[in-house]
Amino acid sequence: RIVYVNGDYLPEEEAKVSIFDRGFLFADGVYEVTSVLGGKLIDFDGHKTRLQRSLNELDMPVPEAMDDLLEIHRALVEKNEITDGLIYLQITRGAPADRDFAFPSADVKPTLVLFTQSKPGLAESPQAKTGIKVISIEDIRWGRRDIKTVQLLYPSMGKMMAKKAGAEDAWMVEDGLVTEGSSNNAYIVKGNKIITRHLGTEILHGITRAAVLRFAREAQMEVEERGFSIDEAKNADEAFITSASAFVMPVVNVDGVAIGDGTPGPIAARLREIYLDEMR
Ligand code: PDD
Repeated sequence: RIVYVNGDYLPEEEAKVSIFDRGFLFADGVYEVTSVLGGKLIDFDGHKTRLQRSLNELDMPVPEAMDDLLEIHRALVEKNEITDGLIYLQITRGAPADRDFAFPSADVKPTLVLFTQSKPGLAESPQAKTGIKVISIEDIRWGRRDIKTVQLLYPSMGKMMAKKAGAEDAWMVEDGLVTEGSSNNAYIVKGNKIITRHLGTEILHGITRAAVLRFAREAQMEVEERGFSIDEAKNADEAFITSASAFVMPVVNVDGVAIGDGTPGPIAARLREIYLDEMR
């Protein structure tokens, strides 16, 4: 695999980052995941805009290659012959000479890394037909989840808790209301109404979420942006998640309770179809 590190395209074995990199020592970094379908980048502009915002919110220096990101994404798709897959991009606050909590001076350049993950048939995932099961866990992450940082230890632990319980993912709950999934936004459907957490600092402003809600409204579906509880989810007609890697994925079980009849619902299926049709 050919990866990108600070201006160079290299075989992955030759790519190197300093052990003093603040991404490694302090999780002082931000990232984006953009999907590729049929060789085409999905919603690149949305991901780039959010990346810029994450950098701003953390006073992180902007890499010199910021204006070339589209070109770099395309070059990696080509060099690695990606038809369907994901492009991971990470920017960290770079590698000062030593470990220090204070941010480094301006002469320390940010570290920019990108790599591809080939996933043939990404949009034809069999899980979309069966749906996934989720468990609920307490949301104990920091308070700025609107910034897409690489501090992913708790979401990783959530995934493991889910696996142990025979589920695929964890929905995080704060003050009795679902914030989001470990790496996706969470939705329920009651009647004709799609309910998903309102934007704020408590959740990541999903790029897929924005597109799906736009398509839902264009299709005259009703959307309510507010928090919902796990009890409400258990009594919903349908549930689903969205993310750049899962698109729209039905959720059929929460904490061991089947949602609706325990199979993917029609609204989730329709939104998945519309999203994939419109975006690729
Ligand atoms: N995760 N919420 C969280 C906590 C996320 O990590 C993600 C994305 C989302 C969905 O955002 P988007 O629609 O822009 O992908 C919501 C990516 C896919 C990941 O970590 O792999």
